[in-house]
Amino acid sequence: MELVIGSKKCNSDNFDDIFRFYCEAIEQELNGFYERLDKDSENYPVLSKACQYSLSAGGKRIRPLLTLELCRVAGGNINDALPCAVAIELIHTFSLIHDDLPCMDDDDMRRGKPSCHIAFGEANALLAGDGLSVLAFKEIADRAKDPLAAVKTISILSDCVMKMIGGQINDVAGTKWDLNGLYSMYELKTSQLLIAACCMGAVCAGADEEFISHAREYAYNLGIAFQIVDDILDVTATAEDLGKPIGSDNEQGKVTTVTLLSLEGAKKEALKYSEKAENELKYFSENKFLSELTAMLLRRNK
Ligand code: IPE
Ligand code: IPE
Ligand code: MG
Ligand code: MG
Ligand code: MG
Repeated sequence: MELVIGSKKCNSDNFDDIFRFYCEAIEQELNGFYERLDKDSENYPVLSKACQYSLSAGGKRIRPLLTLELCRVAGGNINDALPCAVAIELIHTFSLIHDDLPCMDDDDMRRGKPSCHIAFGEANALLAGDGLSVLAFKEIADRAKDPLAAVKTISILSDCVMKMIGGQINDVAGTKWDLNGLYSMYELKTSQLLIAACCMGAVCAGADEEFISHAREYAYNLGIAFQIVDDILDVTATAEDLGKPIGSDNEQGKVTTVTLLSLEGAKKEALKYSEKAENELKYFSENKFLSELTAMLLRRNK
């Protein structure tokens, strides 16, 4: 397939080539964001430094990539989805900075580096997260091409972010979940940002309600599979591969799919939800890349 973002082109059907092309475009957009942030926060530079530290540490960029690809699959111009792609990565990074704080999961490492609060102190990390959560919306408001799409995507994003925060509230409550309760919490804390990513991409393409509802269902199931794999990796991966501490869930006494179902049971559930996600892709005509991405996220080791 042919992808054109700005002055860059990719003409390939190879998954790795397309993945790399999207990631490079996302990094380039983020670089633009860093420049704007540096300018806007020159009187309090630590804000910009802390935000850039966590953003540039090297996440997988799955959410912005989904935004761009859903826009393409829905028949849109990928360039129109770039502000939403930046926005969702800002929100996701804010959620990770806060998730690592001592009052939450108390994790010292993130994306292969000391967590934001270890590098910049707790107050600055908290404030960097606050900043990113607001700048995401500014990014769409200032840079979206179509004002109506901007309003719609801001509405989707704010709704999903509130639900993600609700999921984090339910997560730290320490409830001894059964499987259904656990999945309701995963839908909130993890699926909702994937739903925002996919639905915003579709909206940027002017997709109809039917397309958006399949995008939502795909992202919901992908998110549950994603969080189950995250539970599994917390037990099976190395901290070096993962870029974050292993055994964190156990240390926090968390109920996870691994504690409820054992490792083998959790793997089966991850496969089940990944297949449910895959099943939604039949509603999209150009679904090869998304299908390969879905499979890759199930097999990932980080
Ligand atoms: C981590 O998300 C948080 C979860 C929802 C499990 P990612 O695994 O996508 O983190 P990065 O962006 O690659 O660091
Ligand atoms: C992450 O859940 C969900 C959000 C950050 C919203 P986890 O707490 O399991 O994520 P990791 O394992 O720290 O990345
Ligand atoms: Mg957490
Ligand atoms: Mg955590
Ligand atoms: Mg985890």
